Amino acid sequence: MSKLIKNGTIVTASDIYQGDILIEQGKISQIGKSLHVEGAEVVDATGHYVFPGGIDPHTHLDMPFGGTVTADNFETGTRAAAFGGTTTIIDFCLTNKGKPLHESVQTWHAKAEGKAVIDYGFHLMIAEITDEVLAELPQMIHDEGITSLKVFMAYKNVFQADDGTLYRTLLEAKKHGALVMVHAENGDVIDYLIKEALEAGQTDPIYHALTRPSVIEGEATGRAAKLTGMANSQLYVVHVTCEEAVQQITEARNKGVDIWGETCPQYLMLDQTHLEKPDFEGAKYVWSPPLRPKEHQDALWTALKTGQLQTLGSDHCSFNFKGQKELGRGDFSRIPNGGPCIEDRFSILFSEGVKKGRITLNQFVDIVATRSAKLFGLFPQKGTIAVGGDADLVIFDPEAERTLSVQTHHMNVDYNPFEGIAITGEPVTVLSRGEFVIRDKQFVGQPGTGQFLKRKTYKGTAYAGDPKKGGAGYV
Ligand code: URP
Ligand code: ZN
Ligand code: ZN
Ligand code: ZN
Repeated sequence: MSKLIKNGTIVTASDIYQGDILIEQGKISQIGKSLHVEGAEVVDATGHYVFPGGIDPHTHLDMPFGGTVTADNFETGTRAAAFGGTTTIIDFCLTNKGKPLHESVQTWHAKAEGKAVIDYGFHLMIAEITDEVLAELPQMIHDEGITSLKVFMAYKNVFQADDGTLYRTLLEAKKHGALVMVHAENGDVIDYLIKEALEAGQTDPIYHALTRPSVIEGEATGRAAKLTGMANSQLYVVHVTCEEAVQQITEARNKGVDIWGETCPQYLMLDQTHLEKPDFEGAKYVWSPPLRPKEHQDALWTALKTGQLQTLGSDHCSFNFKGQKELGRGDFSRIPNGGPCIEDRFSILFSEGVKKGRITLNQFVDIVATRSAKLFGLFPQKGTIAVGGDADLVIFDPEAERTLSVQTHHMNVDYNPFEGIAITGEPVTVLSRGEFVIRDKQFVGQPGTGQFLKRKTYKGTAYAGDPKKGGAGYV
């Protein structure tokens, strides 16, 4: 049955206006004033914003890591995402050296199929470049629609790739139209600092932060940016946490390097002191890169406002405190890295960003949805509200007051890192391709209805010519 969303304030990355949206067969078929359509189910959005569904470009669901497996799988994780206003995720497909890429992709499909309640795509990890990987890559990009490649510059002896692999991945990505993503930290130096700390008996969670200083995130970011310039390729830096990394991205962009940066709510909201919480509670706040001293938060907000950072990922990688984070008691390097954020990403940015006057409403939509759709080959099917696009929509109450808490969240994990933080704004109703997933704050979706998204290649999707020569620049 067609649906008519009436009287909402429609917000995209460029516009804000009152209007009605007609949905037919999962797509937006009309937008207009005072639409009347015989037989359509009317959904009243009076007093609410209607946003495009959020796009989370960075999740880890059902992922083995740190001697355990993440607490959220594709069912619990996408359900929580939907509660939070996110209708598309792009999850990281891990690979192993020597194993064919397509086998890893099959493994990831098997994790998601029959479980996801919203649409999803995959990024593909590149651990090393071999003849076999080179032979398989075009198929992954063009046939499988996996148009972004992830290289880890940290997690030595686990995920870390060397600089040769990064450089060759950048070259291949340029050739085939993929966007390279990096986790930018200097894994070799971190490995040494961890050994040194443990030998000195420094085992508490705070040493996780102290052995991964911001200077080496900046160093790795600069290195990756320079290799990208050399390869004349394109780069997306995930989970930027600090001023040094922002500076490197800004500098490279100003030199014409095609570089993009993502930050995450945890780096905007929480700081290094959280790792000092007593009774091992600091383990709840172990992410890599780590939470930074508070001063870095201003640099991140400014970068979002000025466009030096363009997206917000959740980096959702949830581990229970009991039995999982606890694996690192007595040795901080064994604490599984990561935390839960898939549900709160969207509303935190609205509350802390828009409500506190740090970004505009249009910037909010761009950061939480549109920019990721453009960068990752989903626009205009996803990431905006336009005729012909998927009806992925969030009806949002901008005045709802609530407190983030493990008591009320829907993530399958026993703590919330934002516990007790009061925010304003809440998704009320969420639609994925025209079907209700959340209705009046209740889950009404179905596991398995989320579809895998074959994404378009990167080339030409985001850059519209040099502004000095009359083009629009990055759009
Ligand atoms: O601590 C984190 N960020 N865990 C997830 C894996 C990664 O590095 O993104
Ligand atoms: Zn190709
Ligand atoms: Zn990472
Ligand atoms: Zn991550």
